[in-house]
Amino acid sequence: MKMKKMLASGLVLCISIQLLCACGKAEQNTAEKVHIGVTYYDQSDTFLGELLTDFKEQLKKCERDGLETSVIIQDAGGSQKTQNDQVKELIDAGCNVLCVNLVDRSDPSEIIDLAREYDVPIIFFNREPVAEDMMQWDKLYYVGAYARQSGQMQGELAADLIKADSRVDRNKDGRIQYVVLEGEPGHQDAIIRTETAVESLRENGIVLEKKGYQIANWNRAQAQNRMEQMISQYKNDIELVLANNDDMALGALDAYKKLNYTETNLPVVFGIDGTDVGLEAVAGQRLAGTVYNDKEGQAEAMAKLAEVLVTGGDIEEIGLTNERYCYLPYFKVTIDNVEEVLENNIR
Ligand code: GAL
Repeated sequence: MKMKKMLASGLVLCISIQLLCACGKAEQNTAEKVHIGVTYYDQSDTFLGELLTDFKEQLKKCERDGLETSVIIQDAGGSQKTQNDQVKELIDAGCNVLCVNLVDRSDPSEIIDLAREYDVPIIFFNREPVAEDMMQWDKLYYVGAYARQSGQMQGELAADLIKADSRVDRNKDGRIQYVVLEGEPGHQDAIIRTETAVESLRENGIVLEKKGYQIANWNRAQAQNRMEQMISQYKNDIELVLANNDDMALGALDAYKKLNYTETNLPVVFGIDGTDVGLEAVAGQRLAGTVYNDKEGQAEAMAKLAEVLVTGGDIEEIGLTNERYCYLPYFKVTIDNVEEVLENNIR
């Protein structure tokens, strides 16, 4: 519901801003007005939906501080070709800075060429281009988070629980049988999260036995489906589910619910993101924990960077790594601090 409302308001905003950009064409690229063009890989992604809601909030703050801003947000619907076309449309509409969440993070060349031709800086976000591509032009930036840190924290959360609660090892064999639900292949947050989560469990002295893994593309329904397959294969053997994000963790729980598993027969499930539904599930003790992907921090960094790039403010204030990267830290969320996190999260 929230998502629907957001998309509807996004659409209205896009249309009105498109008009505004069209009318203001003669004045485009002036240094005082920040016209931001955003394109993101897929509107069905829960985390990105929330991040962009926060981004719009951040821009309202800029407005209150007296800076004129406008934003057009476009959904690339999972197609890099569509996204390349959208970038051209955004530039034609007068956007003087772009925020791009690439569909294919290994294929940004056409977008970079276009932006360079029209001298419009790009802030890539959430889906990190490879380092060589970031060097193609000096007006390319990235806002995101360190994938390794999220995996490590997820592994630590799981290890802490396994050590504290002997019931997690349900068959009492001294090993934890686990499965993984992975995001998209080729995404920096998928494979790295899985590897580091497992690494950190081992470093914390947990003996593991991998039963299986499935790719579910960050998506709850796909995760439910893949999890049903794994449950039919491994039955009650699964003691731990490591999911690369909250939506897939919730999909795993949906699968158990559909198969009428009772609470005592469930494995422990961990996610990453701290989306609204993810946090609710931690508060309801359905998810054993999550790792907060700081969307508010990322949205704020994107807005500040956009402002500085257009108005020529002090870029030093943003505290970039290697002059181009802004990585926001993750933090752990469990039943112990979830209420606090929810309280700070009111929009
Ligand atoms: C990840 C996030 C996922 C998904 C993905 C999309 O950082 O954890 O939930 O949004 O980005 O690129």
